[in-house]
Amino acid sequence: MRFSFVSVAAIALIAAAPTAMASGPEAGEKAFKKHCAACHTVDAGKNRVGPSLHGVVGRKAGQVQGFKYSDANAKSGATLDEAYLDKYLTDPKGTMPGNKMVFAGVKNEQERKALIEFLKAAK
Ligand code: HEC
Repeated sequence: MRFSFVSVAAIALIAAAPTAMASGPEAGEKAFKKHCAACHTVDAGKNRVGPSLHGVVGRKAGQVQGFKYSDANAKSGATLDEAYLDKYLTDPKGTMPGNKMVFAGVKNEQERKALIEFLKAAK
């Protein structure tokens, strides 16, 4: 009797664990909608105020066709890999001085990581 009560409690704990972690694609999509969707899409070829972020992770900065980048972005020579994006999305102005993205940055590390996971999947 006592043994089975303990087992049930353990199973309940295991079942509750995944919902406690706000990360992964869903959290990333939420963060994208909250911070980025006013200016960006993840659809290929669909630019807004900012360039499409379709397949952005790992490509060179300033490569989206038909988007008029600032010189700072176009000539940055940056590769938008995970490490660079983590810095850029923390502090866009400090990481790429002179770029015209009017965005203060995502200061929450977990939110940033989830966002980058979401962007990785958008290809
Ligand atoms: C107010 C509009 C705005 C918001 C909000 C915004 N961006 Fe941008 N973003 C831009 C603009 C404009 C550029 C182009 C900058 C330039 O040419 O200097 C840009 C450029 C970028 C680039 C470089 C793309 C490339 O092809 O070189 C990345 C990556 C990016 N944004 C990601 C994001 C993410 C992720 C978010 C949300 C956390 C976000 N941006 C929020 C407007 C915005």
